[in-house]
Amino acid sequence: MVFLRNAWYVAAWSDEVSDNLLTRKILNEQVLLYRNAYGDLVATGNTCPHRFAPLHLGKLVDGAVECPYHGLRFNGEGRCVFNPDGDGRIPAGARLRSYPITERLGAAWIWMGDPARVDLSMIPDFEFLDDPDYRTVKGVLHVRANYRYINDNLMDEAHLHMVHHDSLACDMVRRAKTELVKDPDGTIWANRYGTDGAPPNIFDMMWRMTRDDYEGTMDHWVEGGWNAPSFVRNNTGVVLHGRPREEGLETKNAHLLTPETETTTHYFWAICRNFETGNDALDDGIRTGTEYAFVHEDEVMLHAVQEAMGEREFWSMKPALLQADVGAVELRRTLDRMIAAEQAEHPAATPAPRAEAVG
Ligand code: FES
Ligand SMILES: [Fe+2]
Repeated sequence: MVFLRNAWYVAAWSDEVSDNLLTRKILNEQVLLYRNAYGDLVATGNTCPHRFAPLHLGKLVDGAVECPYHGLRFNGEGRCVFNPDGDGRIPAGARLRSYPITERLGAAWIWMGDPARVDLSMIPDFEFLDDPDYRTVKGVLHVRANYRYINDNLMDEAHLHMVHHDSLACDMVRRAKTELVKDPDGTIWANRYGTDGAPPNIFDMMWRMTRDDYEGTMDHWVEGGWNAPSFVRNNTGVVLHGRPREEGLETKNAHLLTPETETTTHYFWAICRNFETGNDALDDGIRTGTEYAFVHEDEVMLHAVQEAMGEREFWSMKPALLQADVGAVELRRTLDRMIAAEQAEHPAATPAPRAEAVG
């Protein structure tokens, strides 16, 4: 399976990266992440080019990463700058790959493709992630499924009433049609609107925690917007039936998917709200509920699907499609086209040789 390489992926949340050495496999490449003496992010390969020791088991010495096996040291550009052995000559080929990396929206974004093609405008504009009016609860999970199934799942309102029956299920949304919207900037939206019904349990609970009790019915919206290669924002909210949306409760949610391998994914999630921003108990409730939904509900199903699919390609299985799949189909075709165009232009846009310095 081929990944889109000229694209940004989240390597970590910003607060995961420090002067401790962190490693994460991204697009099948083992990456080393840390901050240099200036606090700037560094991303290089994690495999020592001498005898292939994992560098994250070493330590930072004078601003360079010291390999724990024979002590070669590498700077933030991946160059070997010190050899403690013999005459100290730096061996040819003692280079690590270095990756462009930048910090935005509270996350470390890594560019896995051609460094000459780096384009900061391709980082999705999920502005609520660093809006001071919003409170964010976030985390990272490991999902045993290909990232494209998670993309699909996040744009798919038809699974809510089955997989999340205790929390997100909503009968008025189940009965609604998915509306497909394409923004001029390329964002693909799959939206559902339910009116005059009972809200999902999670919003019923949040409303009662943060507002007065209520009588009657509500309106509920679930909007999922996708940007390439694997970023989905959700706007989900409720309001008393017939009242303007601005009077309601809404969370804006970010789902940032980074392929680890063909069958596993790092899932960076964030639930953001502009109400009750000082309510720690609500934070705890959101964290517990979100992790339960992702780990015990979505992940179990996605892993089962991955196991059933094996190595087979999605379209080759001739899937039966529901109306609710309109967003997932659109984003799959869009991503297929982007990957095909990248391969046609540069068939070697597959992993660069380990010791090739690119940045
Ligand atoms: S394996 Fe890294 S210096 Fe030998
Ligand atoms: Fe789900």
